[in-house]
Amino acid sequence: MLTANKPITCKAAVAWEVNKPFTIETVEVAPPKKGEVRVKMYSSGVCHSDLHDLEGIDPNYPFPGVFGHEGAGRIESGGEGVTSVQPGDVVVLLFESYCGDCDYCKGSSTHKCLKTRRDGLQQDGTSRITCKGQTLSQMNSISTFSEYTVCSEFNVAKVNPSANPHDLCLAGCCIPTGYGAAVNVAKVTQGSSCAVWGLGGVGMCAVMGCRNSGASMVIGIDTNSRKFQLGKEFGCTDFLNPNEVENVPEKLAEMTGGGVDFCIVAVGSVQIMEQAFLSSHPAWGKTVVIGLVNKGVTMKAGVWELIMGRQLLGTFYGSYKTRLGIPMLVDKVLKGEIQLQKLISHRLPLDRINEGFQMLTTGESLRTIIDFDLKE
Ligand SMILES: NC(=O)c1ccc[n+]([C@@H]2O[C@H](COP(=O)([O-])OP(=O)(O)OC[C@H]3O[C@@H](n4cnc5c(N)ncnc54)[C@H](O)[C@@H]3O)[C@@H](O)[C@H]2O)c1
Ligand SMILES: [Zn+2]
Ligand SMILES: [Zn+2]
Repeated sequence: MLTANKPITCKAAVAWEVNKPFTIETVEVAPPKKGEVRVKMYSSGVCHSDLHDLEGIDPNYPFPGVFGHEGAGRIESGGEGVTSVQPGDVVVLLFESYCGDCDYCKGSSTHKCLKTRRDGLQQDGTSRITCKGQTLSQMNSISTFSEYTVCSEFNVAKVNPSANPHDLCLAGCCIPTGYGAAVNVAKVTQGSSCAVWGLGGVGMCAVMGCRNSGASMVIGIDTNSRKFQLGKEFGCTDFLNPNEVENVPEKLAEMTGGGVDFCIVAVGSVQIMEQAFLSSHPAWGKTVVIGLVNKGVTMKAGVWELIMGRQLLGTFYGSYKTRLGIPMLVDKVLKGEIQLQKLISHRLPLDRINEGFQMLTTGESLRTIIDFDLKE
């Protein structure tokens, strides 16, 4: 391996400050340290969470940094002690680690791992990416908007190599998040009614989770009616544009005969979360919140509305133990149970990444994939 143990100079999209477009920079990616791997990226998806972060959802976000948390690549080299993956392995990068050894990983109550850092750094508290001599933070400790990146081996999942690696980035966020919201958190049941707010990449995966769980009614709700045609192909049976009805909970109660069994919110809006909660069936309806809003913001849920039977839940990453769940989801893609290809609306090279974010803002895209230069 010609590059092992040496720094690699490559291109990355850098977010220097809040609310400013990314700039493409030449960065230096250090060799992996103990327990880390360096990954040559195949592709990275443009997820709304990157946009939220760029817009300042978290006032403590460690700018400047290399964003991107939905990626797939190939192991270029491993640091000391790495045994779970080898150079050449196709991996999906994970924004929640799975060490398999901490109390959280060993328990069945959570999919979180105590080794996950939430400060954009590696396990030893430093970053592997620098630009013009300045250290950059690594979004979710993985930084997938870079031709090469370094992360802990706990933040990669080795997946079936027969899957098309150039599309697999979507198994890094939108597929587990949306699909898991339906199957792991809502636990959608056969013959039930479901409603999914926000038919973006994450919402469409929630729709597939509802459909595959045997829901008889899956209502796609979006302010952009252009999403409805594709929504049907993913499994929606009905649609609602909230701008076209006076009272959404009342309309949904009418459509479902009393209230929706499972409500899933894949939009970052408190008003929509409150609306979904009130749309869930008053005696047993479950609402699962996925969308992100500014840190510190709260939502209202009436106590009486809650105690009479509704349940309010949230999910991070679809509540999968990541290194175990994501290879399984890739197998579902291979079996045709999850339609990955249909989620990809655009492909762009790294230097046009800002156009990808523009299309996310306007609603023109479903999922845009940033394709890295694939030359060896
Ligand atoms: N909890 C997690 O682990 C996690 C992981 C990934 C993404 N997310 C969050 O999920 C949300 C969706 O992400 P995405 O990448 O699919 O976004 P997206 O921008 O692709 O999709 C959002 C969709 O919501 C629709 N929408 C906007 N306002 C609406 C409204 N008022 N009512 C109904 N629909 C509305 C848009 O038209 C769009 O189709 C974001 O908030 C993102 O940060 C959370
Ligand atoms: Zn995401
Ligand atoms: Zn752990």
